[in-house]
Order: sequence, then C-alpha cells, then structure tokens
Amino acid sequence: MRHNVLSVKRCIILKTGFIHVLALLTITAISFTASGCEGVAVQPPEDQPFVFLFMSDTQADPQTGDYSGFGSLLANALNDAEKPSLIILGGDTVNDDADEDEWRDFFRAAGSSLDEIPVAAAAGNHDSSKHLAGRFDWPISAPEKPYQGYFYSFDMGVVHFTVMDSNIMGAANDEDIEWLKEDLSSDAAAAAEWRVAICHHPFWPVAEIPKDINRSQTMREHFLPLFTEYGVDLLLVGHQNIYSRCEPEEGPVQVMAASGGKVSYTPVERPYLIITADAPNYVRVTASGGEFAVAAFDASGNTVDSFVIPEKE
Ligand SMILES: [Fe+2]
Repeated sequence: MRHNVLSVKRCIILKTGFIHVLALLTITAISFTASGCEGVAVQPPEDQPFVFLFMSDTQADPQTGDYSGFGSLLANALNDAEKPSLIILGGDTVNDDADEDEWRDFFRAAGSSLDEIPVAAAAGNHDSSKHLAGRFDWPISAPEKPYQGYFYSFDMGVVHFTVMDSNIMGAANDEDIEWLKEDLSSDAAAAAEWRVAICHHPFWPVAEIPKDINRSQTMREHFLPLFTEYGVDLLLVGHQNIYSRCEPEEGPVQVMAASGGKVSYTPVERPYLIITADAPNYVRVTASGGEFAVAAFDASGNTVDSFVIPEKE
C-alpha cells in the first residue's frame, strides 16, 4: 500500500519594479523537517554574486531505483560558500512521474534543501503534465492554454529566466512561438543583465538519436531565431544524459546537464560540440561583476567544465 507522504507549501516571490510574480510550490516529505519558504529572502542581495544551480535528468537508474547518487550530487552542490538562490531542474526529474514512490525517493534523497531554496522545473518526457504540475507549482503568469504552466518565465537577481516545454516544441505551435516572442521582447527580459532559456530536449543534440535530431531541427528553425534576436545568453537542457557544452555559430551556448543515474548515450562529433563528460554532474552559474561564469562539477566536486560569458557591449 502506498502512502502519500507529500505536503505542500506555497512560496510567493515578489520583485519590486516588475509585474512578474513567481509562485512556487515546494514539496515537503513529512518525514523530514522543513521550514518551507516563508520568510526566506529569495531575492539575493544586490551587492553579492547571484548564484543558481542547474541539474537535469535527476531520475534514478531504472534498474535500481536508487536516488542516492542524485542526493549526494545535490549535497555537494550546496556545500559551497556561495549558496545558490535558485535550483533549476531540466526535466526527467523521476522515471515515472505517476509513481508516488519515485517522488518519495527523490525528495528523500534531496533532503530539506528543496524546501529551503526555490525550484523552477522544466517538463521532460518522463514528466507528464498533471503529475509534474502537482509537484512544483507554476508561476501564475503562465499563459492560459491547455499546456498552461509548462511555458513560464520569471526574474531573479540579474537574470530573466524563460522555461519552455520541449515536449511540444517539436510541433512548432504558433502560440508557443508567439509566447516566446512576447516573453523575450518584454520589458523585464530587456532590463535583465542576462537571459537564460531552459528546456528539456536539446537544440543541439550530441548523441545520434533520430527523434532528438528531428525535434532539434524544428526547434532551431522556429525558436532559435528569437534567442538570437533578443540576446539569450545561455541555453540549459538535458535529456541525452551527457554533460556537454555546445557553441553553435548562431544563438546562445547550450549546456546539457546529467544529474541522475541513467546511463549516458554516446556523444558523436559535431561541429558545435566543445566538451563532453559522462560522470553525473551539476552546473553552477554565477553572475558577478558583469560576467556570467558557468562551471560544471562531478560528484566529487571536480570541475568538468568551466567558461565565462563576457559582458555584452
Ligand atoms: Fe528525457
């Protein structure tokens, strides 16, 4: 017999000067002590670097159901002097999002950290609509449409974040393209020092998977020009379970994280592919002094990649 061990707390973030309101639900496993978001200053002090983490495909090895690797990785990621103000999950958070046991194991592995730090999640192909939406609430600014909540944006620190649902981007729906255009052309996006886009499937695949290649071609045709036009600085993705950095001729640098227990696919040579790593990893991004520093680490804290996006002229 399964027990629903999840309770929910709502955390609302208001940013003065912007109409954007970010509402997040944090999920608390009741067998753990958690304070929730009440009273937590989620907007980082302006005189300190703004740090956020990106993890993706945190799903367990499906053969073992073991989330301890993800838990250790997250603990290491948070064991740093500069605490992140935000954790972004790039989709495929669990293997079967309809399975309460999986979510229980995921939240147990995460400990209390996901109650203390705001989480923004993108939908993956293992994260189907209603189940994922029940774990992490979506910002109330999400558009009214059948896929409500899977495209949303918010502002934190000096960054404008745009989260997209790549499960349906392969269809290149006009309303999704228009939504992205409206978001990236908004005053909030224009005012931000940096713009970060997040989705699950890669725009620039690094493994030879026909479905991914077909989807990426459509996404590049219909969505990438908007990234270029409105100056998106960084694209964060997952799905192929390979840490990788791609620097295409057009558009932002793409970083793919792989933070769980699934076996990596094999990368193939691509003209845009700069570096790959196959160990589970997390990505830390630091905005400070006009620079956007991106670094990826393995479970031992070893740096597997590091680069800086310089200040724009
Ligand atoms: Fe995936």
